[in-house]
Amino acid sequence: MPQPQPVLADLTGAAVFLVLTVEEGGERAVRDLLPDLGGLARSVSTRAPHDGLSLVVGIGSDAWDRLFAGPRPAGLHPFEELAGPRHLAPATPGDLLLHVRAERMDLCFELATRVTGRLGAAVSVVDETHGFRYFDCRDLIGFVDGTENPVGRDAADAVLIGDEDPAFAGGSYVVVQKYLHDMDGWNALSTERQELIIGRTKLDNVELDDAVKPADSHVALNTVTGPDGEGLDIRRLNMPFGSFTEGGECGTYFIGYARDPWVTEEMLRNMFLGRGPAAHDRLLDFSTPVTGTLFHVPSADFLSGPPPAPGTAAARAQADATSAPQPPAPSANPAVRDGSLRIGSLKRSPS
Ligand code: HEM
Repeated sequence: MPQPQPVLADLTGAAVFLVLTVEEGGERAVRDLLPDLGGLARSVSTRAPHDGLSLVVGIGSDAWDRLFAGPRPAGLHPFEELAGPRHLAPATPGDLLLHVRAERMDLCFELATRVTGRLGAAVSVVDETHGFRYFDCRDLIGFVDGTENPVGRDAADAVLIGDEDPAFAGGSYVVVQKYLHDMDGWNALSTERQELIIGRTKLDNVELDDAVKPADSHVALNTVTGPDGEGLDIRRLNMPFGSFTEGGECGTYFIGYARDPWVTEEMLRNMFLGRGPAAHDRLLDFSTPVTGTLFHVPSADFLSGPPPAPGTAAARAQADATSAPQPPAPSANPAVRDGSLRIGSLKRSPS
């Protein structure tokens, strides 16, 4: 499998999340930067080798066609707004995601400075969030966040594209949403009420028994199964953030990596549109998303040697070479994929 970007790296003490749009004419600067990203990250991380600095870049659906000729990742599409009876998950602009994380914010800041410095006026920043680790890996509403994340081989299985889309194997998909919390409303609830909303105990972080866990709790609605009853996972690296200007706002930056974006989207449908007896996720009564964007995360190998830019002679040569019909890609998990990816011919020929 091609070398992935460091999507499997552990949760760190600090992170910078940057969502950028690419200005018209800025495509060349972005393309020139992509093969250099690994080197830029190494130039900072080597100076602090024990602090877990990593950079992951994601590319949005519209930007993909502006940057690359040839086939697209099968699951890449714009984030779909979800309008439930009570709560809205908005879709907001974003061509590039930079997910920079380390134990130390200075390292994140240094690397983000270098990357944005290279891009200059080719991009605009549409959202910048600085995340921090809060006591015991809790989110600002006081619950430990990330406990049920898959680990080891399960994490790689949940997150990395495999044979189902061979041209993009080693890649991933990521959804980001910036949630603002109503801390006054949340803090007015008893701990027992909060635990019923999350579906776990607050102090010792134990999942509630099925007999008492409400159907509209966050944990219940985010338990998604495949056609054979197997649990479908994503990998979340959420971080708290907050500021004090203009009355202050604080919340949770949700970031979920998945091999198939359908899994994350199904969780979101459950949360916003409800499932069975649950009208919506009760956590949403105290947490409002203000952004929502989906990106493909190419493998590190893809970034080192991306396909040609659209409209170039190299792109035309590649198109000619691939004009012969290709067999459909094999499917590792057909039921899930049938629901979302609609894979056709995905092979990318060598350029
Ligand atoms: C579980 C917080 C948004 C998916 C949890 C848990 C907490 C939490 C405290 C329980 C511990 C654990 O991590 O396993 C939050 C907060 C959010 C948020 C504060 C934003 C305000 C989301 C979103 C998704 C999601 C948008 C999916 C798109 C999950 C999943 C679990 C989980 C899959 C594990 C369920 C299980 O036990 O199997 N979340 N979450 N979360 N959350 Fe969230």
